[in-house]
Amino acid sequence: MIAPHGGTLVDRLLKGAERDALLARAAELPSITLNSRETSDLEMIATGAMSPLQGFMNQADYDGVVENMRLADGALWPLPVVLASKDGETFAAGDEVALKAESGEILAVLTVESCWRPDKRRELELCFRGDEQHPAWGYLESIGDHYLGGPIQVLALPRHEKHNEYRLTPAQTRAAFEEKGWKTIAVFQTRNPIHRAHEYLTKVALEQTDGLLVHPLVGDTKADDIPSDVRMKCYHALLSKYYPLDRTMLAVYPQAMRYGGPREAVLHAICRQNYGCTHIIIGRDHAGVGSYYGTFDAQEIFDTLEEDDLEINTLRFEHAFFCKLTGGMATTKSSPAGPEDRIFLSGTKVREMLARGERPPAEFTRPEVADILIESYAQKVEA
Ligand code: ADX
Ligand code: MG
Repeated sequence: MIAPHGGTLVDRLLKGAERDALLARAAELPSITLNSRETSDLEMIATGAMSPLQGFMNQADYDGVVENMRLADGALWPLPVVLASKDGETFAAGDEVALKAESGEILAVLTVESCWRPDKRRELELCFRGDEQHPAWGYLESIGDHYLGGPIQVLALPRHEKHNEYRLTPAQTRAAFEEKGWKTIAVFQTRNPIHRAHEYLTKVALEQTDGLLVHPLVGDTKADDIPSDVRMKCYHALLSKYYPLDRTMLAVYPQAMRYGGPREAVLHAICRQNYGCTHIIIGRDHAGVGSYYGTFDAQEIFDTLEEDDLEINTLRFEHAFFCKLTGGMATTKSSPAGPEDRIFLSGTKVREMLARGERPPAEFTRPEVADILIESYAQKVEA
């Protein structure tokens, strides 16, 4: 089985007497209520999905990540995983802080190693190549002006109303792969319904690997992305009819989207290695938004890494489309057809069609998926 990033699968969840003792003490500590992104990061740190992170980043790790994509010890890490305090609120090294869910439940205790005022504009420029219109800036502006970092001891994982049966931890996906006898596993990261082009990437991957993990991101996304419960219905409908279920697995990925293009592609790869996957699909404009990144930047960044930085491999794809000339899914690598023979619809075009109750063509999306999307658009209009 592929090693976790950094060699060991992190497990920050306390059990038994140790947990009881900390729980009793935690109620007396100063506390921070986590926002939704921080809550999903906590869940991923706790279960080892973000191995080798043991907590929210301290200043040395943060600086290394922003400037050089490396933790202070030199390990590859592309994007900040940080916790913000309320404006003006600071902590000292050694302080213990209780981390609470929105519900008030104490999820963890953080031991502060550093508390500092980050240069958010530098983070925006170096990590996201962003400006004030980039979604990363909206997030950075919404949180407090100090970060605090250090290891966490986790008392409880965040509770969720949705997708609970699909919330497999890295230990659980690894056990499942072992049980199925899969040695090579391709993972498909997505924040969209699976259309024919996406399906094509996963099917090509299935020709090469023992199994496929469909791993949709269900943490926060932009307001105009399709909500995860609608997407989950689409994935069910699609997988149950069009996929070999003995070679396909569906689980959810709790992380929030950062829209960090190439750097986020590396984050997606590291975390999926932790889940036990050996190959990650990276297509066109992976984790992109607007026109901040080049179409294949998220593939090319992997060529800049050192040999032993990552164990997971990339499965890279050109822009996929239905090709009228060859009568099947293709890319420019496999079909000689010109642009006039490619059926491709932009996300905006599809949203407009769905909003009018029109079904996009079967060459673009499976009818079962289109029906679910049309219904969800109709309900949105009623609401
Ligand atoms: S995201 O993480 O990259 O934002 P998204 O759902 O948009 O998720 O895409 C999922 C994966 O499919 C990414 O690797 C993306 O590069 C790839 N992809 C999406 N559409 C196409 C396409 N038409 N051709 C090739 N790759 C694609
Ligand atoms: Mg995309």
